[in-house]
Amino acid sequence: MTDEHLLRQQITELGASLFQRGFSVGSAGNISVRIPEGYLMTPTNSSLGRLDPQSLSVLNEDWEHVDGPRPSKEVVMHRAMYEARPEAQAIVHLHSTYVTAYSCLAGEEGIPPLTPYFVMRLGRDVPTVPYYRPGAAEMLDDIVAAGRRGPGVILSNHGSIVAGSTLEDAVNAAEELEVSAQLAFLLEGRATRPLTESQVADLLG
Ligand code: 13P
Repeated sequence: MTDEHLLRQQITELGASLFQRGFSVGSAGNISVRIPEGYLMTPTNSSLGRLDPQSLSVLNEDWEHVDGPRPSKEVVMHRAMYEARPEAQAIVHLHSTYVTAYSCLAGEEGIPPLTPYFVMRLGRDVPTVPYYRPGAAEMLDDIVAAGRRGPGVILSNHGSIVAGSTLEDAVNAAEELEVSAQLAFLLEGRATRPLTESQVADLLG
């Protein structure tokens, strides 16, 4: 099997896994991975739970659609993350429930670094960008700037976008972000003990 065949298989399997465990519902969310000629991407209006490895969108290095069904409307969002993080090989965008709930809170400071895996997978903090209509080209600059700060970005009133050095890495980080948002809600109103600056520095060191 070629690398591209394996990647097609992996997008389908990890998409189904995210869907089965409720990290995406309906046709929300999308995935892209780098291939030598450009990018593989999930088609627009497809469910992550029911992808067909033979029916994924292919885009060239300039993000022009060259094969397969019409790609996700979030091409600009993915493109911005790859631009921000040249080492990224895969991007996952989800509307997972707790991150999305967090993204709707007014005046929120950001998800606190409560656990080591949050820091190890997502860095010191996860920036939030303002609301944009899904698919809007205008989001590019904000996502590039936020993506340079770390591999995960929260999209106001929408969800998350997470980059990884492999698709598995991006999925792991996206799951960690969702669970960290869930923890933040579970602990709301209680005195918490976020990791200290030196504990965070030790994890990132
Ligand atoms: P697509 O179906 O075009 O991928 O859009 C889904 C989505 O998650 C929009 O933010």
